[in-house]
Amino acid sequence: MGILATIYHWFKGNAVEYKGVILPAQYMRFCGKEFKDNEYFLQSACKEAERLKNHLGFREGCAILDVGCGFGRLAIGLISAYGDKYQFHGIDVNRRAIDWCTKYITSKHPSFSFMHLDVRNERYNPLGSQSITDFFTMYKDQSFNIIYLYSVFTHIEKEDVEVYLNEFRRLLTLGGKVFFTAFVQSNVPDMVVNPSDYKKGWHGPLHCVRYSKEYMLKLVAGAGLAVSSFEYESEDNGQSVFMLSKGDGR
Ligand SMILES: C[S@@+](CC[C@H](N)C(=O)[O-])C[C@H]1O[C@@H](n2cnc3c(N)ncnc32)[C@H](O)[C@@H]1O
Repeated sequence: MGILATIYHWFKGNAVEYKGVILPAQYMRFCGKEFKDNEYFLQSACKEAERLKNHLGFREGCAILDVGCGFGRLAIGLISAYGDKYQFHGIDVNRRAIDWCTKYITSKHPSFSFMHLDVRNERYNPLGSQSITDFFTMYKDQSFNIIYLYSVFTHIEKEDVEVYLNEFRRLLTLGGKVFFTAFVQSNVPDMVVNPSDYKKGWHGPLHCVRYSKEYMLKLVAGAGLAVSSFEYESEDNGQSVFMLSKGDGR
């Protein structure tokens, strides 16, 4: 960010209040232009909270891991819809996002914690130096009932996706669920960054990482996870939804 933009944003502040809810300032938000609108952002957050309740077994007392939590969209939706009587842990490679969530969410809701993961991502953390595997050793087996990644595999390459999926099986409770979205198509190469025949005009580091559906399913199965539901391009932004459970059906 340039110096003038930094000064401008410093004056404008990094949070806005909308309908009594604190949201990240518009300029900070990820996931496309429509999220700059406060009503759209809040509605989308609440929709994700409902998805957790209706499809992923969310209930009081459960433990949620939000990988690539960004500026707390899911956390904001959950608190607005269901309060805070469960454990929520958000991790992200973007330090600004984690600092924002800690300042505006953890301070009021101590059962919500956020941690910076200094893993390299060419788009979101180009100078990161930590390995994903080292990071995950801190969590005990079966620590989470729900592991959630919205628009994260859309910006990371296959080696990292593979590591994450392998860790998730260990971290998931019996009966737990993994949710993720991804750009997938059939009969295309395993993985292409910014494919020219797909999201036209998307460019820049890891803007759009598209997988072949078959390859993604291979990674899921290789990690001992099973697809319990798949919705092709069901999201407004053309992402597909995967819901997974442990491969042995538990
Ligand atoms: C498009 S944003 C989505 C943010 C949030 N999930 C949401 O739906 O609002 C992608 C997020 O993934 C994070 N990210 C990228 N690579 C990551 C990685 N290897 N591990 C964890 N988070 C990552 C980015 O920093 C960014 O916050």
